[in-house]
Amino acid sequence: MRKIESISSGRVSKNKENIISLLKNKNKSLPTKYLYDDLGSKLFEEICDTEEYYLTRTEKEIIDQYSMDIIDTSCAQEIFELGSGSSKKTKRLILNALENNDNVTYFSFDISAKALKMSYNQLRKISNKLHIRLIKGDFNNDLNILSSSKKNRLYMFLGSTIGNFDDIQAKKFLSDISNIMKENDSFLLGVDRVKDEKIIKMAYNDKKGITGKFNKNILNVVNKEYKLNFNENNFAHNAKYNLQKSQIEMYLEAITQQSIILPNKESLDINIGEKILTEISRKFSEKTLKMLFNKSALVPIKCYTDKKNYFSLYLLKAKKYF
Ligand code: SAH
Ligand code: AVI
Repeated sequence: MRKIESISSGRVSKNKENIISLLKNKNKSLPTKYLYDDLGSKLFEEICDTEEYYLTRTEKEIIDQYSMDIIDTSCAQEIFELGSGSSKKTKRLILNALENNDNVTYFSFDISAKALKMSYNQLRKISNKLHIRLIKGDFNNDLNILSSSKKNRLYMFLGSTIGNFDDIQAKKFLSDISNIMKENDSFLLGVDRVKDEKIIKMAYNDKKGITGKFNKNILNVVNKEYKLNFNENNFAHNAKYNLQKSQIEMYLEAITQQSIILPNKESLDINIGEKILTEISRKFSEKTLKMLFNKSALVPIKCYTDKKNYFSLYLLKAKKYF
């Protein structure tokens, strides 16, 4: 197994206070990144294979169709994927990059060691001209400490993970990317689009209940991380579509009255029906994206979409070079 490089800027004590205030808040929430431990990463892969979760297969279809154009347009010599997960969809892009270059370096950047391992296993046999680097870090904190390169780098953020950020987080993330990009670098961003509400809702309420398991697993992760006493059986999965905000809101809803002992030893009572927000998943319109790119100093140069207009991939450049 390839060595995992860790670059986390680590802010444990600050995180502790953050968790307490998030849980004591009237509108309770937990940081979405805690969905992804070993089990969470495995469950996410299972979600991608469900009939209802159209996002992964649609994005894969677009990549498979336009991969060569993406590689030619970006002149990519290196690929740097943020929140890479298992890197399954990336394989085609790497193969095309290898057609154009003697050797290619692929950076898999993720907070989950399991995801990095899956990514390595997915790609290790592709070619001896492919150099794989596995980097464990937090894309909300660590982007400005990434090392740069003289080669043309294609940054990628796939799967509509940008949809898991609110407007302020999305602007910060995209601006961080724009800041670290050099003149010949490009950025490929996958976004899920606004569509029929029923199709979106089904994607987050699959029949097999895998999304529910994925959602509840966040409690086991924060239990381990902060020595808490959440019991996942005391909560129900609740994913609803907020039409006004064009976003799925994934909650854990208390089905029993319970007390949680917080890291500061205070006891927190949770009543039946109280909800903890674990994730938002935004669906984007052209207008919202244009505004977001503009605010983040990014310029779209190409947009690739499927026939149904369910999902899009944007190829972007940093505005500072225009
Ligand atoms: N890009 C992949 C995976 C999407 S799932 C795909 O399209 O299928 C989101 C990925 O982001 C997971 O692998 C998760 O571990 C990672 N992730 C979530 N929060 C993160 C954070 N704060 N920093 C780095 N990676 C994170
Ligand atoms: C990673 N992210 C974009 C997924 C999404 O669709 O928001 C995570 C997920 N949550 C529930 N199902 C999948």
